[in-house]
Amino acid sequence: MKMFNETTNKRKILIINGSPHKEGNTTYLLNTYIKNMPDDVEIIRMDLYNLLIKPCNDCRYCWINEGCVIKDDMKIIWNDDYDCIILASPVYMCNLTPPVISILSRLNMIWCNEFFLKKRNNFKFKKGILILSGGGTGNPDIAIRSAKILFKLLNAEFDENKNIICSLNTNNICAKEDKNIKKFIDDNL
Ligand SMILES: Cc1cc2nc3c(=O)[nH]c(=O)nc-3n(C[C@H](O)[C@H](O)[C@H](O)COP(=O)(O)O)c2cc1C
Repeated sequence: MKMFNETTNKRKILIINGSPHKEGNTTYLLNTYIKNMPDDVEIIRMDLYNLLIKPCNDCRYCWINEGCVIKDDMKIIWNDDYDCIILASPVYMCNLTPPVISILSRLNMIWCNEFFLKKRNNFKFKKGILILSGGGTGNPDIAIRSAKILFKLLNAEFDENKNIICSLNTNNICAKEDKNIKKFIDDNL
């Protein structure tokens, strides 16, 4: 199992940020986490609201061809030489935000290539970390379930009891004031 980038010897981390707010709750959690990471990491950051990732339109190209016919910023994900994926998203309608769901829909290509073409996409084994913020106090189960599918398809190991940094009730207490966050972050460094 390769956990380091062979050329730079640095761990390569892909950040998928599904928040539209540069100074919002999710970005605060994400930036605080990154700030605490060791120096020997290379970070590739996708701020999804500034990128173009179209949703899957079920064109069925991947039923008979390898890969996806849509050429857009999804190429950063397909590049796949990452040791870790950090997925950060606010909770929208109990789920991850729409641009994250677009990514998720495009990962259907992996499933279709395998099912119809018997072609396995050998994604590098990596670690998955989920960062969530939610305005209410409702259980973010649905968002976590979606994240689990994303991590599984990209061959990222993810323990939902451990690898989550989550701040709920941000309508009343913003993530910056959330006292539980330090422990969540320390546990995931
Ligand atoms: C369209 C929309 C839907 C939302 N749905 C939920 C929800 O289902 N559950 C929840 O706890 N918060 C919900 N929220 C609140 C956000 O999750 C919350 O304000 C979050 O902290 C925003 O993160 P940000 O500051 O990074 O943008 C919703 C917000 C929006 C704009």
